[in-house]
Amino acid sequence: FTGINQARTMLASMRTSRLAAAPARPNRVAILVPKAAAEVKQAPLLQRLGGPDAIKAAVDIFYGKVLADDRIKHYFESTDMVKQRAHQAAFMTYAFGGENKYAGKDMAAAHRHLIPHLTEEHFNAVVDNFVATLQELGVPQEDIDDACAVVATTKDAVLAE
Ligand code: HEM
Repeated sequence: FTGINQARTMLASMRTSRLAAAPARPNRVAILVPKAAAEVKQAPLLQRLGGPDAIKAAVDIFYGKVLADDRIKHYFESTDMVKQRAHQAAFMTYAFGGENKYAGKDMAAAHRHLIPHLTEEHFNAVVDNFVATLQELGVPQEDIDDACAVVATTKDAVLAE
């Protein structure tokens, strides 16, 4: 009896505190949807991250970090970073649930030619910079985790021979 009821009460108060935190986060749409719906369903990831314009701003900061990171910056020596930023912003916007305006290569084709061939260490370095960017922008950890889960789905393709 206590077990289940305690768990229920705990879950209910966790949900309530999540909802209570919503107004402090202007990019959450919790206020735009009925309360009952907000309780069971979070806003789509892209909206929680602030939408396509926020992704563009994040990508700028992200590549600033990548180009300063000795573990990976050499890969971008001959890359057109204006095009790269635009392609990455379009890719992420789509990957996080937005419109598909990405017109670049698929992930295997985009990375296969890089020398030396990319390893898990390179991948993790990119993820580090991505996480640091979102943290700097004040994105809640929960949303950073969700974004990283999406980025992780590209790993096999990015590292493919
Ligand atoms: C290109 C995404 C990981 C280095 C690209 C492009 C995208 C992309 C969308 C543009 C492709 C095009 O313009 O056709 C991603 C995603 C990654 C990832 C989602 C997941 C973490 C990495 C890693 C490295 C890397 C780990 C190296 C450390 C590059 C370079 C280019 C590129 C150098 C440009 C290649 C060129 O100039 O032709 N990536 N990437 N990427 N990526 Fe990644």
